[in-house]
Amino acid sequence: MTSIPSALLRCPVCRGATIGFSPGEARCGTCGHQSPSLGRVACLLAEPAVWRGRWSTDLGAFASMMRAAAERTRSDLARFDLLPPTRARLEGFLAANERNAAQVRALFADAGIEPCTDREAIRRRSADARGRLPLTHHYELLLRDWAWGARCPENAEALGRVLGMAAEAGWGRTLVLGAGAGRLTYDVHQATDASVTLALDLDPLLSLVAHHVLFGDGRTLIEFPFAPDSDAWVEHELRRPDALRPGMHWLVADALDPPVSAGGWDTVLTAWFIDVCDADVREVIGTVHRLLAPGGRWINTGPLLYPPSRPPAQRYPPAEVLALTEVGGFDVETSSLQEVRYLRSPLSGHARLESVLSFVARKTAWKAGPSAEPPAWVIARHCPIPRFPSAPTGHPLLDRVGALLDGQRSVADVAQALAGALPPDVDARDAAAALVLELHRRGEDA
Ligand SMILES: C[S@@+](CC[C@H](N)C(=O)[O-])C[C@H]1O[C@@H](n2cnc3c(N)ncnc32)[C@H](O)[C@@H]1O
Repeated sequence: MTSIPSALLRCPVCRGATIGFSPGEARCGTCGHQSPSLGRVACLLAEPAVWRGRWSTDLGAFASMMRAAAERTRSDLARFDLLPPTRARLEGFLAANERNAAQVRALFADAGIEPCTDREAIRRRSADARGRLPLTHHYELLLRDWAWGARCPENAEALGRVLGMAAEAGWGRTLVLGAGAGRLTYDVHQATDASVTLALDLDPLLSLVAHHVLFGDGRTLIEFPFAPDSDAWVEHELRRPDALRPGMHWLVADALDPPVSAGGWDTVLTAWFIDVCDADVREVIGTVHRLLAPGGRWINTGPLLYPPSRPPAQRYPPAEVLALTEVGGFDVETSSLQEVRYLRSPLSGHARLESVLSFVARKTAWKAGPSAEPPAWVIARHCPIPRFPSAPTGHPLLDRVGALLDGQRSVADVAQALAGALPPDVDARDAAAALVLELHRRGEDA
C-alpha cells in the first residue's frame, strides 16, 4: 500500500517500531493497534473510530451546505428580474456546484468514507468549527498548489525563500509538518538532495487530492473565485508538473505528536504551520527538536497569524519566536521578514498580504537561557532540567517529582510521568513546571 521506509515510522499508540501496511490498513506489530484507513493514503492515527466519524461528519456537513447553496441558487433562478447574463451565471453555478460536490463525494467514496446523515452530529460539528466548513477550509491551497500555475507566483516564491536559506546539499531525511496540499513539499523534494521526504497532514481532503496528484493521474476540481473578475466558476485539472523523483511519501498523521522516529530526521520543514496548528509555539519547537538528529536543521517559513482563541502570552511576534527557538536548543542561522501576497487567485480580485517569518535553525547542544529567571527549562519544556541540590520534603507529590529529576528529564517528561496523578482540568506541564520550580527554590534556599 505504501512504501514509506518502516524504520521511520512509529505506532501512534505504543510507539512500537513495527508498523505493517496492507491494503486498507496500518497495523502495529507490537500492540496490534489498527489505524483508520483512508483509501490508498497511509494513515497512522490513534482513535480510528473518532477519525472516521469526523471525516464522515465533515463530508455530511459539506454535502448539506452544497445542497443549501443549490437551493438558494434555484430560488434566485425563479426570480422575474434577472439580467440574461445573471441567469446564465446562476445556471452555470448550479451545475458546477453539483458537479463539484459529486466529485468530492466520489473522492471520499473511493476511500471508503460515506457522508454522515445525522443532522444533530453535523450541527454539533459545524458549531465546533464556528461556521467554517472543516472539509473545505483549505480548499484554495489545492488550487494554488496544483492549478493556478505560472499565473500565480506564490509556489515559486515559497520555494525560492526556502532554497535561498538552505540551498546547499544535506537535506537527507526530510519531514514536512502540516504539508497542506503538498506543492512546497514536492518542489523541495524535486529541487534538493532529500533522500526521503515525508509529508504529514491531518486534512483528509488535502491528503486525498494530494495523493492523487503526486502518485496518480491528478484530479479535477472546480474553483469558485471569492471575488471573480469574470467567471463565477472554472474547472481545473490538478496535476504535478513533472514525474516525481523517488523517495517522496505522504502520511495522514498528527504533526504535533508525529508517529515517526525521534532523532531520525536531518531536516524538518514547517510552512504556514507554527501559528495555526493547535499548540503553543513552544510545544512545536519541542516537537521539532525531538524529531531532528543532532545538528539537524529546522526550516520555517510563514506568518504569525494566531487564531483568536490563542492566549495573549502565546501570541509571540517574530523576535519572541526566534528567542524561544534559541532557548529551545537551536542556533538560529538566518532569519528574515518579508511581505508576501497569499492565495491571490488569477481569477479573483482578492488576496491577503502577509508578513512572513522565515528562518533556518540548527539543533545544538543545550545552552543556558538568556536569563537565570525563569530558567530555560521552564520556558522550553523539552529542555533537560539540570541537577540541583534537593532534599526530601515530606510532601508525596514533590518527593515523587524530586525522584524523577536525573539531569536528563524535562518538564514535559515530568508531566508525562505524573499523568493520572493530577486533576483532569490541570495543565500537566504547567503543574510539572511549578512543582520543579518549587523544588529548585527550596534547593537554593537550603
Ligand atoms: C495554513 S495550512 C499550510 C499548508 C502548507 N504547509 C502550505 O504552506 O501551503 C496549515 C496546514 O497544517 C495542517 N495541520 C494543522 N494542524 C495539524 C496537525 N496537528 N497535524 C497535521 N497537520 C496539521 C492543516 O491541515 C493544514 O494543511
